[in-house]
Amino acid sequence: MRIINLFNPGRLVFGKGCITQCAEDILSRKLKSVFIVTADPVAQLADSLVKAIENGGAKTTVYSGINTEPSIGMFTNTLLAAASDTPDAIVGLGGGSPLDVAKLVAALLGSEQQIEDILGIGLLKSRNTYLACIPTTSGTGSEVSPNAILLDEKDGLKKGAVSPFLVPDGSFVDPLLTVSVPAPVTASTGLDAMVHCIEAYANKFAHPTVDIYAIEGIRLIAANLKRAVENGSDVEARTQLSLGSLYGGLCLGPVNTAAVHALAYPLGGEFKIAHGVSNSLLLPHVIEYNLESAVERYADIAVAMGVEKDSCAKETAHRGLLRMKELSKQCGIPQHMADLGVPLESIPKLAASAMTVTRLLKNNPREITEKAACAIYQAAY
Ligand SMILES: [Fe+2]
Repeated sequence: MRIINLFNPGRLVFGKGCITQCAEDILSRKLKSVFIVTADPVAQLADSLVKAIENGGAKTTVYSGINTEPSIGMFTNTLLAAASDTPDAIVGLGGGSPLDVAKLVAALLGSEQQIEDILGIGLLKSRNTYLACIPTTSGTGSEVSPNAILLDEKDGLKKGAVSPFLVPDGSFVDPLLTVSVPAPVTASTGLDAMVHCIEAYANKFAHPTVDIYAIEGIRLIAANLKRAVENGSDVEARTQLSLGSLYGGLCLGPVNTAAVHALAYPLGGEFKIAHGVSNSLLLPHVIEYNLESAVERYADIAVAMGVEKDSCAKETAHRGLLRMKELSKQCGIPQHMADLGVPLESIPKLAASAMTVTRLLKNNPREITEKAACAIYQAAY
């Protein structure tokens, strides 16, 4: 068994109403100025936090400009705004976009390093500012992961910074914050979280310490996603989904995702397709390609998704594949790239871009060539 390092948040809090504990954490550390990075649609969810922090005698600034998947330019503007505010604490509140930006702001505030210096694996030298993350979707798992993703406007590619210093000091996963998430976002972010678990479990570098999160995350999300999409105020389903998403996040640091994410990034970068949509759309086609290389693993995944086990692992795995397609359809996710306005002629360029995401492709159970990537996009078209 290979050696594995798990870098988890200094404090991980899960439960209904736990957002208030973020204020307690900040105040107990005697921090005085808190810069909150969020998005306009969820900014009001910060109200109770702001009140609690200010009642405790610290100052807050709410920066709600992260309304789309972030670019390097958007990040740079946020960093400048934060720098002029001289905070000693950064809080990210929202979906993966505000969380990723908050993580990078905390990392580069007062640093000699520039954003371009840290895109890659293990390049960030340190982080000197307190960082807390509060997710408002059940999806990215960014609140516990060492990853942050930005779009580079220069080449249209999504690039990741990966570093233990990007793991927050505090993560506060409050399922009640997800109740107002609209159904399409619940669907796409929930499927993204499930893909985190699936790609960590059927991964060349899968590890028993992470398998337990991955398989339980798959079970929780498969059993509760449709319920939460159909009735957003089903707090029980929301809670199970938040837990599944957290488990997905805990898979990202030590094992991470693979070809589904590698092929999904160019769709997001080039055509602004939401991360969860591009992932769920590609998932069955990548698995079809991978199946022979990890049959037993995909059979376990299928059982976790609730399908009946067959004496033949390949048959069980195949049933799981059908279940994934069914769940994605039930949740209203588009099933074809053509439905999203992607021109057929763009496939070679998408495949070439996907081949640059080597940090994830290396994890895939079966080697992906550029020709294979083209064929997968073609199948998803
Ligand atoms: Fe993802």
